[in-house]
Amino acid sequence: MCGIVGYVGSDKSIEVLLGGLKRLEYRGYDSAGVAVVGPDGTLGMRKKAGKLQVLVDDLAEHPLANGATGIGHTRWATHGGPTDGNAHPHLSDGGRLALIHNGIIENFAELKEELLLEGVQFASETDSEVAAHLVARAYRETGDLTEALRAVVNRLEGAFTLLVVHADQPGVVVGARRNSPLVIGLGDGENFLGSDVAAFVEFTQRAMAIGQDQIVTITPSHVAVIDFAGTPVEAQEFEVTWDASAAEKGGWSSFMAKEISEEPEAVANTLLGRVVDGMVHLEDLDAIRDRLLTVNRVIVIACGTAAYAGILGKYAIEQWSRLPVEVELAHEFRYRDPVLDQHTLVVSISQSGETMDTLMAVKFAREQGAQVLSICNTQGATIPRESDAVIYTHAGPEVAVASTKAFVAQGTALFLLGLHLATIRGTLSADEIAQQIDDLKAIPEKISRVLESGERIKTLAGWMADTHSVLFLGRHVGYPIALEGALKLKELAYIHAEGFAAGELKHGPIALIEPGQIVFVIVPSPRDPRSLHPKVVSNIQEIRARGARVIAIAEDGDAAVLPFADEVIHIPLAAPLFEPLLAVVPLHIFGMELASAKGLDVDQPRNLAKSVTVE
Ligand code: F6R
Repeated sequence: MCGIVGYVGSDKSIEVLLGGLKRLEYRGYDSAGVAVVGPDGTLGMRKKAGKLQVLVDDLAEHPLANGATGIGHTRWATHGGPTDGNAHPHLSDGGRLALIHNGIIENFAELKEELLLEGVQFASETDSEVAAHLVARAYRETGDLTEALRAVVNRLEGAFTLLVVHADQPGVVVGARRNSPLVIGLGDGENFLGSDVAAFVEFTQRAMAIGQDQIVTITPSHVAVIDFAGTPVEAQEFEVTWDASAAEKGGWSSFMAKEISEEPEAVANTLLGRVVDGMVHLEDLDAIRDRLLTVNRVIVIACGTAAYAGILGKYAIEQWSRLPVEVELAHEFRYRDPVLDQHTLVVSISQSGETMDTLMAVKFAREQGAQVLSICNTQGATIPRESDAVIYTHAGPEVAVASTKAFVAQGTALFLLGLHLATIRGTLSADEIAQQIDDLKAIPEKISRVLESGERIKTLAGWMADTHSVLFLGRHVGYPIALEGALKLKELAYIHAEGFAAGELKHGPIALIEPGQIVFVIVPSPRDPRSLHPKVVSNIQEIRARGARVIAIAEDGDAAVLPFADEVIHIPLAAPLFEPLLAVVPLHIFGMELASAKGLDVDQPRNLAKSVTVE
């Protein structure tokens, strides 16, 4: 959600902060602001509701003295509406201290009461401003910005990343984090802080993760990390493997168009180095290798698109490893009383690695003694650091708010996990595993062929720009694809859309079918060993008989659907378990094209944030 950038170095803070905020736009936001400590020891601040461009235009009209120290923020409103006043930074100490915040301070009301009694005047309706005044008060007492922030974070409840600068302290930015992301970028004579590495990847690829409940102080030449008790901490350096251009549009009309085009690479890169000589090599699992042998069930936890990838993984892991697998929405999981022990493998899936619901479920699962393996696309993110082991998907940065390429990469990582579990449990022979690997390795090229139907899907979407409702049907591994197709249409094109398991049709949803209702059907392969193909073809006939317009996604050569479908989008033949990685691509394109046909912003749909860092 909120994006955070901090900088100390040379007199170019404003450019660094605005560039960083631009690359963090994908997180979703509704206002933006910067504060800079100028060369004359003053602090300048500008903030505006709306897109970053509104702030950029304002800075052009009313320039701010540039300086070597600054902080920048994009806000996604929680407490208090998206107004100029509620935007960050928040000022205190007579305008000499500026603070930015990502997260929610749960005990802000009582802290505000305390400050009001002291006569502090508030300029916003936010929880964050409380932190600014508290740090200012502590700074007046200690004269030390790091100690002042440390005193305050120990009083805060909830989730927060905080960055603070003070006019008296040029060349110093202090940050703190609890349950909310913050990463350090290490430069030469300059240092950076960011919600994620995208904030500073243009300047450096050396980064350090900041742990839970830690405080960092950066100067141009030094980085110091302590915990909330004040004890020094050694932070781990890592190399960022994304380059700045990977996070830019590269000539595409939108980040989403670029990211859908990268789906073949997302699968190929996630496989890279992990399949050797017909075997799966997941060094990522070294930390839990022995414990994996004792696992007797798997629970997958995730939200949204990541949870649909989880359903895909369930079918494969159960079929190959014979372990029972449940998939649960992370926010539901942690509020029931799940039965977990050291033999439960909890697999969390998150593109951002920062989704608060998933993070809290991960922590909860570990507290209950389960081992937690995370599948994540973002290095240095919080969820992997809170887990026992992590399989990174290598989809590259996903900037468009709605997830596309991360989904196929998550599916691929789950397939690798399933094959690994089958290997160590001896439930598949070496030949069977080698065959699956061959089939999986063929997927990227097949996705590239599906992408060739892009123009046709665009035409279809153009015809449907006035549609108010679209249904999606799928069965077995086609079911999560139906859910994913519907979610994309809701969030991108703001159209009512629902995904159903095709077998459920007669149990209710068929009542929705009326003449003209558009229904996408993901048709299983006629080669599928479960013989689901004729059943789904019967479903198509049933809805067609009631006037539905059917768009079938079926494999090449499937002649059985032709007489009953209004349109057929063909996908190449693939192993039935892997077919969803192909079938999902036309649905991603459809969602994007329908949104474009309606003139909507496909990269930043309304009301949504890329990284949902609040519950
Ligand atoms: C859908 C979408 C969301 C995310 C969900 C989880 O297009 O983007 O449903 O999949 O918010 O996000 P991550 O994977 O970052 O945990």
